[in-house]
Parts: sequence; structure tokens; C-alpha cells
Amino acid sequence: MDEPIGKLEAHNKVPRGFLVLLFGLIAFGLYYIAAFTPEFSGWSQYKVFSREMEADKAKAAAGAAKMTENPYEGDEKAVAEGRGIYAGKCAECHGKDLKGEEGPSLLGHLKYGEHDPGMYESIAKGRPGGMPPFEAELGRDRIWMVLAYVDSVREYGKQP
Ligand code: HEC
Repeated sequence: MDEPIGKLEAHNKVPRGFLVLLFGLIAFGLYYIAAFTPEFSGWSQYKVFSREMEADKAKAAAGAAKMTENPYEGDEKAVAEGRGIYAGKCAECHGKDLKGEEGPSLLGHLKYGEHDPGMYESIAKGRPGGMPPFEAELGRDRIWMVLAYVDSVREYGKQP
């Protein structure tokens, strides 16, 4: 019973779980250092950052592209609101039924294009031949609503 302490310790095997944990941590530590050391892995905070910037830019571009499409197309409530705006602001020139009066008909072929971006532009910025700009008065949402109404009448007109 007078064995030295060191020898006593030798009788107790290190638990397996502890060894697994120990080597696991060492391996993870090495991996971690290698993975985030630019000289080993090429990793760099700048690359991560610029990748995030690219992703955000792509998202922003997608958002901007959407603005050339009417967010209210086919939305009945918006079309109803657009009908009201049309009656109040547009009918005097373009006619109650969009067939034109002082202003041109909004049915059929349009000089500045029959698609959302061109028509939005006509309403927002105005046109030189006497179309006043409505951007300040109506704002983007209401312009899209009145356009949703105009489009709905144009669609309806196409049907036999
Ligand atoms: C003061 C009269 C007037 C009012 C009010 C008016 N417009 Fe016009 N609009 C015109 C005239 C005139 C033109 C033709 C402009 C040109 O050819 O340069 C026009 C052109 C347009 C065009 C382009 C047509 C094409 O051939 O490309 C659209 C779309 C349009 N108007 C929509 C509207 C809407 C929607 C409203 C209501 C928010 C409205 N307008 C209010 C007079 C008016």
C-alpha cells in the first residue's frame, strides 16, 4: 500500500468518452483554425462581406424590376379604388368608358406603349401632348390602382 501516487493513478483508465471528447475538440480546433486562416483556406471576412453585398444587390435589383409590373393587377379592391380615381381624375379627358374625349382613347393601341412600364410612365410623368403628370397628386400606389382599373377595362374589351 505504499505505491507512489503516479502508479496508483495508472490503475484508473481514462474514460473512453473523455478521450473521444478530447480528440474531437483538438480536431475541431485544428479544423477551425485552418478554415478561418486566410493563408490556409483563402477564407476572408472581405469575401464573406462582398458575397453578402452581392446577394443584397441581387435582391434590390429584383425589387426594382418588380416596380415595372403592376402589384395590383387582378386585385378587385384595388381595381374598384382605381375606378373611383379614374372617374374623378381621368374621365374628363379620356372619357367615362375610356374611349377618349379631349384626350385619346385608352383602349386598343397606345402611342407610348400598352404595357405597365410605359403606361405607368404616361400617368406618373405626363406626356407632352397634354397629359398632365399625376405622380405628386396620386403617388405610386394609386397610380398602379388606376392602371389596374384601366387594364381591367382593356382586358374586358378584348373579350368577344
Ligand atoms: C387634362 C386632360 C387629361 C387628364 C386629366 C388625363 N389625361 Fe391622360 N392623356 C391626355 C392627353 C392629351 C394624352 C396624350 C398625350 C400625348 O400624346 O402626348 C394622354 C395620354 C395618356 C396616356 C398615354 C396614352 C398613349 O397613347 O400612350 C395614358 C396611359 C393616360 N393618358 C392615362 C391617364 C390617366 C390614368 C389619367 C388619370 C389619372 C389621365 N390620363 C388623366 C389628357 C389627359
